[in-house]
Amino acid sequence: MERPYIICHMLTSLDGKIIGDYLKEERSAYFTDLYEKIHGQYNSKAWICGRVTLEEHFTFGHKLDLSDENIETIPRIDYVANNDAKTFVVAVDPFGKLGWTENSIAPWNEHRLEDHIVEVLTEQVSDAYLAHLKKMGISYIFGGKDQLNFSIVVEKLKKLFSIDKLMLEGGGYLNGSLLNEGLIDELSLILVPIVDAASNSVTLFETSSFLKSQPVNFFLKEIEKLNDGGIWIKYITKTV
Ligand SMILES: NC(=O)c1ccc[n+]([C@@H]2O[C@H](COP(=O)([O-])OP(=O)(O)OC[C@H]3O[C@@H](n4cnc5c(N)ncnc54)[C@H](OP(=O)(O)O)[C@@H]3O)[C@@H](O)[C@H]2O)c1
Repeated sequence: MERPYIICHMLTSLDGKIIGDYLKEERSAYFTDLYEKIHGQYNSKAWICGRVTLEEHFTFGHKLDLSDENIETIPRIDYVANNDAKTFVVAVDPFGKLGWTENSIAPWNEHRLEDHIVEVLTEQVSDAYLAHLKKMGISYIFGGKDQLNFSIVVEKLKKLFSIDKLMLEGGGYLNGSLLNEGLIDELSLILVPIVDAASNSVTLFETSSFLKSQPVNFFLKEIEKLNDGGIWIKYITKTV
């Protein structure tokens, strides 16, 4: 299978939480800034993110009103809207819920570029949503009829957008999905020296009713001490 090299780049509390009140502590700002800086250092042309994270940070829960549109059936065929795009955000949105109003995400700090949006959908998405994406100039690919198969998704990312290196940037359910399909090559983990201690917040890798889970071995590649007691750990999943 021809696919990108996939690096899961994340920041967690000491107890493995990817969200929570620990992020509001003053000390956390240094680590969240560093997260962005390290993202830039990887020099990758694409990052992939789950619907919940994108809704929280980029579309802010905006809902599209597509009810008035009288749309003909649109074939479930992948659509490349922008052949000139240099960098990409890959949005895992199986049922087409994200309320995009533009076809790219603008850089929000010095380590991010203008990223063209590529939606990852199932064939269950509505025709009205597909028509909206086309109107906006947003690219889309299909990853399955009812459920997503990420092996197919990442192969398409390589083939259609020449993505050789992909940053997997959460949240926990998306990370868990790729982990379960054996698609993570490397983990870049910033460990923030705070325990969140909430039992109900999302961890680095989650599972759900449609995701089976099994232990996955990681092997230490590099470890770097950060200021203020943090650690940046790099693990790989294959030793050869
Ligand atoms: N600390 C960090 O480094 C970091 C990084 C990124 C995000 N975060 C945080 O993580 C939180 C969200 O994490 P999350 O795990 O709840 O959500 P998520 O992974 O961002 O999004 C989950 C959603 O993505 C879609 N999805 C994921 N896996 C799928 C699969 N196998 N098949 C079909 N659809 C799939 C589903 O969308 P539908 O529900 O539409 O079906 C699912 O509900 C946010 O609060 C964000 O701030 C933290």
